[in-house]
Amino acid sequence: MEKTYIQDLHRHAGEEVQLQGWVSNIRSSGKVKFIVLRDGTGLVQGVMVKGQVPDSLIEKFETLTQESSLSIKGKVRKDDRAPGGFELDLTDIPHIYNIAHEYPITHKEHGIEFLADRRHLWLRSSRQHAIMRVRHRIIKTIRDFFDNRGFTLIDSPILTPAACEGTSTLFETDYFDLGKAYLSQSGQLYGEASAMAFGKIYCFGPTFRAEKSKTRRHLTEFWMVEPEVAFNDLEDDMDLAEEFLECIVQTVLQNCGPELKVLERDTTKLQNVKKPFPRITYDEAAKILHDKGLPFEWGSDLGGTDETVVSEQFDRPVMVHRYPSEVKAFYMKRDPQNPKLALAVDVLAPEGYGEIIGGSQREDDLDALLTRIKEQHLPESAFEWYLDLRRFGSVPHAGFGLGVERTVSWICGLEHVRETIPFPRMIYRLTP
Ligand code: 4AD
Ligand code: MG
Repeated sequence: MEKTYIQDLHRHAGEEVQLQGWVSNIRSSGKVKFIVLRDGTGLVQGVMVKGQVPDSLIEKFETLTQESSLSIKGKVRKDDRAPGGFELDLTDIPHIYNIAHEYPITHKEHGIEFLADRRHLWLRSSRQHAIMRVRHRIIKTIRDFFDNRGFTLIDSPILTPAACEGTSTLFETDYFDLGKAYLSQSGQLYGEASAMAFGKIYCFGPTFRAEKSKTRRHLTEFWMVEPEVAFNDLEDDMDLAEEFLECIVQTVLQNCGPELKVLERDTTKLQNVKKPFPRITYDEAAKILHDKGLPFEWGSDLGGTDETVVSEQFDRPVMVHRYPSEVKAFYMKRDPQNPKLALAVDVLAPEGYGEIIGGSQREDDLDALLTRIKEQHLPESAFEWYLDLRRFGSVPHAGFGLGVERTVSWICGLEHVRETIPFPRMIYRLTP
């Protein structure tokens, strides 16, 4: 018999189909027996009545437990009350693959650590399923966005010889006879080299930060997409970031209605995510914080609370640009109008989700870049190749990095980034 999936049942109304999956729930109400089957594409309820089906089928039913794996056969019946719009009138259980042991995750509430320890099983729940489907859609949209605009995907290495985003969050490992290697914090420096070869590129992969803080926004392993464009300046960079975010949010709204419903996400706030986004300077952000009575000092980076307060002033993402260069990375170009400032931009998500994009125009002058590397005591020899990019046909260029997990967290309306990645890595968690 042809394989059918729950998400395709609407094409089989009135027909008999066979499904394979796992028991999400079983119950009996007198003579009526219910199996809620999960197959990865959805949930469907199968029903049978004792006396109307062979006794052997009822006996098989009685052996089933939550998460047992099996195939079922039944006739597809339209039912507007059913979550997917269809039910099955069960006719057979052709095969039982496994009778599951007592399943630890039941339909009652569990603590977050209990669930996190069982992440390999927790992923089966409807809520986690919905989050992962949104994540998938976001990743697909990211790829489509750049692919449709003539960007070339150029992968950057994970094992690197030096820091890109500060030395305090480096994971290091011994590397044969060559000393230390570090897990990449960002593919950007390689992205810049690639942009000088291909014009418009993006890299997209896992990045690593030994974050010692325990916050709802930090993972030690997270996915980042980083476009880099030759001949773009900071304004162009902001234009790209704005178009990109609008595309992600609107595409998720169009394609993930059922998932957002499972997550009880209030989508009215997401509808607003259309360009143009407000653009404010760091100075203006500092003024907002002062006006709100926060003890913010000019020159420091925006903390989590500061970002929340600033973003609450707007109904869509806000772009904060021109930060003090002291708090930003060595590769950012100084503002020619005011060399105390870096041509940097952070995009802050609404509803208190904080920074989801960090980007900048890059320093394209050899001497200025060398000075920065020396000031920050970075190992010059490890950056020789990077300096070559300023020796051989240097041009203005800019790019940014978007953190996938923070974006998923915001769009899904979650409490914590730990639910946005299949197997989260945090300071206190390396398993499962
Ligand atoms: O602002 P960041 O550090 O920027 C860079 O790494 C640049 N090299 C990107 C570039 O210009 N090509 O990080 C970019 C984004 C943040 O805005 C945030 O969304 C995410 O990466 N991010 C994290 N996400 C989860 N956990 C962490 N520890 C993160 N650190 C950064
Ligand atoms: Mg940043």
